Amino acid sequence: MHTCELPLSGHLRQLADAGLTRQRRRLDSPVAPHVRVEGQEMLAFASNDYLGLAAHPEIIAALAQGARDWGAGSGASHLVSGHLTAHATLERRLAEFTGFERCLGFSTGYLANLAVTPTLAAGRDDAIFADRLNHASLIDAARLSRARQHRYPHGDMAALERLLARSTAKNKVIVSDAVFSMDGDLAPLCDLFQLAERFDAWLVIDDAHGFGVLGTEGRGSLAHCGLPVHPRILLMATLGKAAGVGGAFVAGSALAIEYLLQKARSYIFTTAQPPAIAVAATKSLEIIQRDEARRVHLRALIQQLRAGCATLPWRLLPSETAIQPLLLGENEQALALSQQLWQRGLWVAAIRPPTVPPGTARLRISLSAAHSEEDVARLVRALRELA
Ligand SMILES: Cc1ncc(COP(=O)(O)O)c(C=O)c1O
Repeated sequence: MHTCELPLSGHLRQLADAGLTRQRRRLDSPVAPHVRVEGQEMLAFASNDYLGLAAHPEIIAALAQGARDWGAGSGASHLVSGHLTAHATLERRLAEFTGFERCLGFSTGYLANLAVTPTLAAGRDDAIFADRLNHASLIDAARLSRARQHRYPHGDMAALERLLARSTAKNKVIVSDAVFSMDGDLAPLCDLFQLAERFDAWLVIDDAHGFGVLGTEGRGSLAHCGLPVHPRILLMATLGKAAGVGGAFVAGSALAIEYLLQKARSYIFTTAQPPAIAVAATKSLEIIQRDEARRVHLRALIQQLRAGCATLPWRLLPSETAIQPLLLGENEQALALSQQLWQRGLWVAAIRPPTVPPGTARLRISLSAAHSEEDVARLVRALRELA
């Protein structure tokens, strides 16, 4: 081993000793509930393909047609020469769908989040107020800013109010997941908005897990909570989860979006996503809007799982979304249960620190409209046997 590698091998050993080594599984078939994983047939509860659109024939056809019409790559960043009609169409449809004045497309949700917070709160006299359980991409976004950082306990509006009341910052930005990715619960969006109004702050909402799933026609968490579209809200959502494709967008007032377009480094300094992806995402949006049956079925599966798990020794965290976390506590327990399920042909990811706080390791059961009632019944049966 080369001497520069020595500290790395030490850190890897520490991870292994703490039961925190991560492993990739290789899929030998497209994303779906029934998949072949490294040669083995598995029933998966592990993807974020909440509506079962990742392998939808109309979206696949749109992707292929998009490549024939627009080529494979965009050739440049949006501001240089990589902004094609396919991207512009997707942005316009997303604006119509979300009700915001304007949208800006990104290659990933990670990049979209990096664009928003550090651009709105850039300087030392600005301040960011973030829920402690926010997604890593929102945490990394805050790190890119020179603004003062405040993190409030998960969902604690009284704590947030105290922090805002004390702050003398020039620009204040409140940042929160709408649906928390490892807990499945909803942020108190109306309370967040009221505080943003009272203290004249921006409200940045990451709806990665609500978009497509919640609200009328899948318009997302803001619609689900009855929050009106407002210029002080910036909404981000990814198109790689319920939409089943990839990419992401930020929606907001025309002014705020123009500001991001001019200033956000993770928008400006990266190649625009392949235009065919935008064509596929536009088709996905159409299906999200028209196919209410997928959301109805998903909601029924959520009820079925929750009823089936009620008598287990482990607790399902309170969640009305497709993310249903089963709390185990210790890392080894979560890993062991995940492995026992795996041996029975069931794939449910064990989530451990640093993704979740120490002592709260869990199985993240992820439901999809592509699951059948029998799929969920099989998982419940296995959990009961293993309990
Ligand atoms: C809450 C949340 N925000 C942002 C992202 C990043 O989105 P993307 O996967 O499109 O980069 C994810 C997951 O990946 C997420 O769970």
